[in-house]
Amino acid sequence: MKISTITDKKEKRVAITPETTKKYINSGFEVVIPRGAGICAGFRDEEYVAAGASVVDEVPDADLYLCVKPSFEEELKIKSGSFLISLLSPFQNQSVLEKMSDNGIKLCALEKIPRISRAQTMDVLSSQANIAGYRAVLEAFGEYRRVVPLMMTAAGTIRPAKVLVLGAGVAGLQAVATAKRLGAIVSAFDVRSSVKEQVESLGAIFVEVESKDSGESSDGYAKEPDADYRKRQAEKLARVISETDIAITTAQIPGKPAPILITKEMAESMPAGAVIVDMSTETGGNCELSERDRVIKVGEVTIIGYTDFAARVAYDSSQLFARNVFNFVAIMVKDGQIDTLDEIVSATLLNK
Ligand code: NAI
Repeated sequence: MKISTITDKKEKRVAITPETTKKYINSGFEVVIPRGAGICAGFRDEEYVAAGASVVDEVPDADLYLCVKPSFEEELKIKSGSFLISLLSPFQNQSVLEKMSDNGIKLCALEKIPRISRAQTMDVLSSQANIAGYRAVLEAFGEYRRVVPLMMTAAGTIRPAKVLVLGAGVAGLQAVATAKRLGAIVSAFDVRSSVKEQVESLGAIFVEVESKDSGESSDGYAKEPDADYRKRQAEKLARVISETDIAITTAQIPGKPAPILITKEMAESMPAGAVIVDMSTETGGNCELSERDRVIKVGEVTIIGYTDFAARVAYDSSQLFARNVFNFVAIMVKDGQIDTLDEIVSATLLNK
């Protein structure tokens, strides 16, 4: 069985690395890599060849195409009957995916991998969110005009920066940990009260909004809070944000637009030189002012709205992504035969 990938100029990450190439070859696959496919992530063609792949100039005929996030601007030239295994953003790309499905291409959307224990090693959303949370902090600190940790020098003391993380899921908790490591005073808020312990275990302060509800649905994700909670949350956040130097927002509700947590007034109340990193601009943003894929200045506040935080650390995010995908393929292909009946594979299939 032949495995390949499709290159995309807009995506720096790659779903097959030299490391996973070796694993596929050892498992009996043939691996064909389009020339230069891994170079933006830091993997040279020679490394793929050394791992056992062949490198070609054309899009090769393959049975499985493993991608991070293909661009659908051009028609993907892959043959009928092959599988495209990738993040596919089914809601945003509905019409193009329907067309591909009509052309006989089988679509596995990796974002639909169920979050069950057995699938943890395949969970690309978590592996990428973790790296994205780390990188978001570095982007914020890079824009921040001041020093982040407490510094006591002969020329006087510099106070530490105050960082607030909104949404303490996978990306948020990594942002908390990274900001702590770099010496900031860190607070975090989440509608799910169960997160308090995790935030505190990282040495950060949990910003509490009183509620009788856990804020969590049965699948462990956040529920949309009611109007009363949202009002009390906004009041509390308005107070905290006015004293925050750097806010990092990650809040998402699955299948819904991201909740607005930082209004224009709140952003304007921040100290001069403050930075907001909005990690949710792909689904509308947590800050009223943020713009997708742009860095803007509103008064004295800088707002970063990138959507490619994980891709900005393309080497390591590719390593993790490729291992996740290898683990997925390992349950999908057994003895050279594709099996889509496994509950994990079946959950990702857009066209059954
Ligand atoms: P996500 O990317 O869907 O959302 C990010 C965070 O925003 C969440 O913590 C959510 O509670 C929070 N949020 C939503 N609305 C908010 C609001 N109005 N104000 C403040 N915060 C708000 O979340 P992620 O990182 O994908 O994790 C969601 C859950 O899934 C967590 O409980 C996590 O531990 C769990 N999980 C389970 C895995 C498994 O394999 N069992 C793997 C990864 C995550």
